Amino acid sequence: MAKTYRIAVLPGDGTGPEVTAEAVKVLQAAAGKFGFQLHLTEFDFGGDRYLRTGEVLPVGAAETMRTFDAILLGAIGHPGVAPGILEKGILLRLRFELDQYINLRPVRLFPGVECPLKDKGPEHIDYVVVRENTGDVYSGVGGVAMKGTAHEVAEQSMIYTRFQVERCLRYAFDYARRYGRKARGVGEHNTLGLVGKTNVLTFVFDLWERAFHEIGEADYPDVKREYYHVDACCMWMVKSPEWFDVLVTANMFGDIITDLGAITQGGMGIAAGGNLNPQGVSMFEPIGGSAPKYTGQNVINPLAAICAGAMLLQTIGEAAAADAVETAVKHVTANKLKSLAAGRMGYGTREVGDLVCEALG
Ligand code: IPM
Ligand code: MN
Repeated sequence: MAKTYRIAVLPGDGTGPEVTAEAVKVLQAAAGKFGFQLHLTEFDFGGDRYLRTGEVLPVGAAETMRTFDAILLGAIGHPGVAPGILEKGILLRLRFELDQYINLRPVRLFPGVECPLKDKGPEHIDYVVVRENTGDVYSGVGGVAMKGTAHEVAEQSMIYTRFQVERCLRYAFDYARRYGRKARGVGEHNTLGLVGKTNVLTFVFDLWERAFHEIGEADYPDVKREYYHVDACCMWMVKSPEWFDVLVTANMFGDIITDLGAITQGGMGIAAGGNLNPQGVSMFEPIGGSAPKYTGQNVINPLAAICAGAMLLQTIGEAAAADAVETAVKHVTANKLKSLAAGRMGYGTREVGDLVCEALG
């Protein structure tokens, strides 16, 4: 009997449902081609549900999610809901409750995609950011007092435990060993670069840096280690992205540098990521937002969601199908689309999904 995977689908807000529909279309085509089955269950978490019911995430949602093999998420963010409510109440809560402690964000320029960096092509922009996904200022520790007065004081703490740092670093070292440049036959070393701020954040990044070298020296002597201050890293991401192989960083820096990375790979239309719990259930998403102004117009680019789908396939163990989807996406960027920008692709959202299915064969 064909292998069956149970996938939770969270289309979410704005253009989320449109891009998710195309990702699902491609996933089903890949399943048909590679001989496995996907059993999809949809959940309506998002702004509309919140405005209707007052409930951000229903009781037991994380428990329910834990029963699936993987989660595919469209986008969270609704113009009718104040910033923070849905992001914290749905996206961050699922990441935390499912202990998805890695946010894996490849930064890769696909063929045919216009790059805003001068003289850079697909051979220059091809690295991965491993963003820690549970700690840092995202921990939610802090508070405010005397709000609204001249004496208002606000605090939000950057917090890391050795445990959080260590499990993230071990994942990143393993990843570099398995998928780094040497492992892929395109370089001399597998290299892991730590991105931090040891010159100012002398407690938190001292913890990161010591753990980095201790673990690397003891258990990953074959992986080359590098260190970048986050501000300098941003410069090199623009000037010399070809230096990077695998980068690992804390939650907040990872959030920021992966948006910079995304624009160098052609923007939010193509950038995908995975919130991973390597021992549990992982959640895959296009990293752009819900782009509400484009809702329902069939103009948004679904490739990021489709690439998130490819990462999902890789993680559930269907690597050949994942590779095929990626190859199909590259075929479409190289030969079909005029641009990755919403409304300027030369095709509609659904047509781009069809093109990928067609390329998949
Ligand atoms: C991301 C987003 C989220 C984050 C927001 C929406 C909470 O920016 O996935 O990068 O900060 O992690
Ligand atoms: Mn972000």
